[in-house]
Formats: sequence, C-alpha cells, structure tokens
Amino acid sequence: MLVANKDLLIPARKKAYAVGAFNINNLEALLAVVEAATEEKSPVIVAVTPSAIKYAGLVYLANIVKTAAEMALVPMSLHLDHGENFEVVSKCIEAGFTSVMIDGSFLRFEENVALTKRVVNLAHSKGVSVEAELGRLAGVEESTVEEKEAVLTDPNNAKDFVEQTGVDALAVAIGTSHGAYKFKAEPKLDFERLRLIKEKLSIPLVLHGASSVPYWIIEKASKYGAELTGAKGILEEHIKKAISLGIAKINIDTDLRLAFTATVREVLTNSPKEFDPRKILGPAKEVMKEVVKGKMRLFGSSGKA
Ligand code: G3H
Ligand code: 13P
Ligand code: ZN
Repeated sequence: MLVANKDLLIPARKKAYAVGAFNINNLEALLAVVEAATEEKSPVIVAVTPSAIKYAGLVYLANIVKTAAEMALVPMSLHLDHGENFEVVSKCIEAGFTSVMIDGSFLRFEENVALTKRVVNLAHSKGVSVEAELGRLAGVEESTVEEKEAVLTDPNNAKDFVEQTGVDALAVAIGTSHGAYKFKAEPKLDFERLRLIKEKLSIPLVLHGASSVPYWIIEKASKYGAELTGAKGILEEHIKKAISLGIAKINIDTDLRLAFTATVREVLTNSPKEFDPRKILGPAKEVMKEVVKGKMRLFGSSGKA
C-alpha cells in the first residue's frame, strides 16, 4: 500500500521509533528493501534522488515502486530525496510520489522559507508530504564554534522555519554527513542541539547521513580489492539516542552501496567463470536485504506495520 510519509512518521515520532528511508537506483535495491520490510513487518520509505532519476528514468522508477507498493503487505511511501528545485518536485508529484524533500539548505533562510512554502502549497493540495532541511550536512569535527554554528541547525531558526512553511518533517544537521567518510576522529553528534530542537518542534525530525559503515562490510569489500581506508560511520548507539530525541526518519544509502559492492566483488572473485548477471546481482540483493532488516530492528520499526 502506497501512503504519504506523514502517515508513517507521525506514529513513529509519537511512539519513539524511526522509519528507514532507503535509497534505490535499480530493481535489485528495491527488491531488497521491499522484501526486508515484508519479512520484518515494517513500514518503509523508498527514496529516490534526482541523480537516481537521471540514471534510471522517472517513469521507470516511479512505476516499479508503485507496483511494489501495490503488492506489498506493508505501508510504503515513494519519496523524492534531496529535491533541488520546484521543477523536479512537481514532476515527481505528477509521477505519483507520495512525499517530497525540498532541499533548500544551500539557500539563505528567507529564500529557503520561500521555496519550501511554494512546495508545501503544491504538495499539500495533492496529499503529498513535504520534508525540508535547515542547516547543512558537513563534517564539522575540526570546526570552530562559529563554523559549527554556521553549519548545524539552529533550534530557534528551526521553530521559525516550521511555523512559516508548514512542512511535515524537518531534516536537521547535528554533525552527520553523507557518504562513507563521516569522521576522521571519534564519531560525535551534537545531541544537546537535537534535544533543544525536539523541545521546540513536535513534527517528526529526519537524520540524513546516518549510515554506520559496518566494519564487516568494509572488511569483506577490502578483502576482495576495494580501497576504503578511513571509512567511518555513525555508531549504532548514537542512532538509538537520536531516535529517543525525536528522529523519526533515518536515511540510509551508503551502507546499501557498500553491501552491494562488497558482494559483487566477492562473487566475481570467487566465481570467475560466472557471467549470468542474476548470479552476481542476486547475492548482492540478499546482502542488501540483510542490511535493511538490521536497520529496521535497530530503528524499532520492525513489527510496526
Ligand atoms: O543523499 C543521498 C545520497 O546518498 C546521494 O545520492 O548519488 O543518488 O545523489 P545520489
Ligand atoms: P548515508 O550516505 O549516510 O547513507 O546517507 C544517506 C542520505 O542521507 C540520503 O539522503
Ligand atoms: Zn541525505
């Protein structure tokens, strides 16, 4: 069943669990996510970025997700991740997305408000949920206090932003970043900032850049030739703490990419005579699925569908 993010996230914030948003670019990743959600009886968000759309085509992606949702026994949403402008958002709404993110985090506050408001007006008229972002996702471990303040989400601004735009969910910057290299030193997030944001806002909060970069995947990928020295992600205990502080949607892309890459490398190395794509991509799908199931258990969404 295809639903809007709001229907998944309001109960999550109320009951202190989080729904995973998993990025997909192809059928294998989608199958991994949907099969995991079905086996875990978990609600799930299928996330598609503008570059995924460029890679696979809007109509193809929208329709494979809609087909999966029609067949699935769990509620799913089709979400535009990091929509960069009004045009991509409206195209996705037209194609049947049930949720969109408008990422105006690179804009000045007033411009971000204006763009987000415009998206909210269109999306809400069609029953589509809107996520926006305030603050920027960037490594901040060696930054000064002033630099951190310029990048991380300001709790008072967050309150004003939500009141002025009417968004359904807000992505916050508390020290996470995208990709496999999140920290040079020890993983550290600004939980005090998140606590203040939670106090001021009752809408679901979103954590981007939340992959854990699991050691077992890095080890397997490296064993089969990948070069991933220095890869480091978010600690699982930090994920749990973030959920207790109002995070109700957690975005995962990197961990699926790593699981895919490690497994494809393993199969190609161990079975040099293999050239049937299904025998190469099938095992990769299975490992992505195990990763997604693990996230659902960690986020507390298992059994909530
Ligand atoms: O933030 C989302 C992704 O991890 C980056 O995805 O390479 O599809 O833009 P992309
Ligand atoms: P990761 O790179 O940590 O998986 O974050 C993904 C993300 O935030 C997608 O929007
Ligand atoms: Zn993101």
